Amino acid sequence: MGSVWTCCATLCLFLMLLSLVCITDARGGGGGWQPVFFDVTQFGAVADGKTDNSMAFWKAWNEACRWKGKSRILIPRGTYMVNSVIFRGPCQGPMVLLINGTLMAPSDPKLFMSDHWIGFQYVDGLVIKGGGTLDGQGLSAWSYNDCFTNSQCKPLPVTMRFDFVNNARIRHIRSINSKNSHFNIFACNNLNMSHIKISAPEFSPNTDGIHIGSSNNIKIAHSVIGTGDDCISMVSGSQNIDISDVSCGPGHGISIGSLGRSPYEEHVTGITIRNCTLNGTQNGVRIKTWAPSWPSVATDFKFENIVMSKVNNPIIIDQQYCPRPNCDENAQSEVQISNVTFKNIRGSSSSKVAVTLKCSRIVPCENITLVNINLSYDGPGGGPSSSFCSNVRGQTIGTQNPPSCL
Ligand SMILES: *[C@@H]1O[C@H](CO)[C@@H](O)[C@H](O)[C@H]1NC(C)=O
Ligand SMILES: *[C@@H]1O[C@H](CO)[C@@H](O)[C@H](O)[C@H]1NC(C)=O
Ligand SMILES: *[C@@H]1O[C@H](CO)[C@@H](O)[C@H](O)[C@H]1NC(C)=O
Ligand SMILES: *[C@@H]1O[C@H](CO)[C@@H](O)[C@H](O)[C@H]1NC(C)=O
Ligand SMILES: *[C@@H]1O[C@H](CO)[C@@H](O)[C@H](O)[C@H]1NC(C)=O
Ligand SMILES: *[C@@H]1O[C@H](CO)[C@@H](O)[C@H](O)[C@H]1NC(C)=O
Ligand SMILES: *[C@@H]1O[C@H](CO)[C@@H](O)[C@H](O)[C@H]1NC(C)=O
Repeated sequence: MGSVWTCCATLCLFLMLLSLVCITDARGGGGGWQPVFFDVTQFGAVADGKTDNSMAFWKAWNEACRWKGKSRILIPRGTYMVNSVIFRGPCQGPMVLLINGTLMAPSDPKLFMSDHWIGFQYVDGLVIKGGGTLDGQGLSAWSYNDCFTNSQCKPLPVTMRFDFVNNARIRHIRSINSKNSHFNIFACNNLNMSHIKISAPEFSPNTDGIHIGSSNNIKIAHSVIGTGDDCISMVSGSQNIDISDVSCGPGHGISIGSLGRSPYEEHVTGITIRNCTLNGTQNGVRIKTWAPSWPSVATDFKFENIVMSKVNNPIIIDQQYCPRPNCDENAQSEVQISNVTFKNIRGSSSSKVAVTLKCSRIVPCENITLVNINLSYDGPGGGPSSSFCSNVRGQTIGTQNPPSCL
């Protein structure tokens, strides 16, 4: 017993000295203003693809978080097995996480006690970069997903969650084969993502690329996303979201919704989606609300300069969304959709109905504008594309292929 304690104490002392040395070294040349490096391998992390490194990562984060200055946590090249881990703030200074290596999740979903694999909470000032990879090892977990038939299902862990994170930049990171969503952004303000690569197979359930809710000033740019679910989805409380230069496919497209499922949902406003391409996706740009639904407001959306290639529903507003069996077809949504512009949207539809505007009978869509739409039908039998409208008021400007039903 005694020798175990001595050994432990020695190890602790050694680790403390090591981090001290590392801090002193880094401070040496920089007069205190240089960032201080916290290398996870100095906190016991081993890049052998087997050892659970969550404790080492957590220790490195906590040391860095306490440092009153710029901290850089380094995950060097190599493959690190990590169990679920949470990086919590507030921190004493801005945090940078450099992921140069590959993080690998355990494949067994039963090992996860929480809804995430890697989580960041209450951090103000965060940068994540480094060109590294997050490998969610979802393949063996996807068969556990029974959420379509079991309403009590236990959600599988999200690869990376941001909760109450402000002023953050995430770039040059790759995420593959998440068990659930790849990235989840909740209650965040001013968070920018760019040069993100996300991939999971077309058949993988619920593997949304980026899921956003209750967040403000979120920007996503220059990214490539292919998954089994939405490339990007935005739910209640998504406000001032700017998405540009995203290539999406395979997947279910870029979606606002589903909205209206719960009472007192926050409004969804100010979403701009520009310069994106969608290839072979189930939907292109979509707004969906439940029917029946609780009342809420969805307004001020712009979809601009979007190229579709063999997309099943290139432009779709669906206020009759009900993915379960036995839905009431007469139920109506109470989510009021207004001020939506679809502009310069071209390419091909793999179904005949390229434009679907299916709105609510009790709160019809108001001020929907279609400008220069050119979507041809590219599928069996050929022929022209068509559009479908119900309970929608708006106007058209410029080219309309399919002929507009507004
Ligand atoms: C980590 O990767 C970045 C970008 O690829 C590179 O600039 C940096 O030198 C790398 N750092 C280390 C310690 O490997
Ligand atoms: C995110 O991008 C916007 C627009 O370019 C910029 O104003 C803001 O400062 C950026 N935020 C961060 C945290 O870098
Ligand atoms: C979108 O593309 C247009 C034309 O290529 C370009 O002028 C504009 O800067 C782009 N905007 C964004 C936000 O990427
Ligand atoms: C769409 O994806 C298919 C299959 O991955 C690929 O062969 C094709 O070149 C892509 N088309 C465009 C326009 O990017
Ligand atoms: C319709 O929506 C557009 C774009 O969202 C907005 O600029 C315009 O003022 C709206 N018009 C009316 C009459 O509400
Ligand atoms: C739609 O746009 C018009 C004109 O800008 C504005 O007056 C109206 O309040 C907007 N609707 C909503 C629900 O914000
Ligand atoms: C619509 O797109 C087709 C190619 O898909 C092109 O040949 C045609 O010129 C376009 N029409 C307009 C008015 O831009």
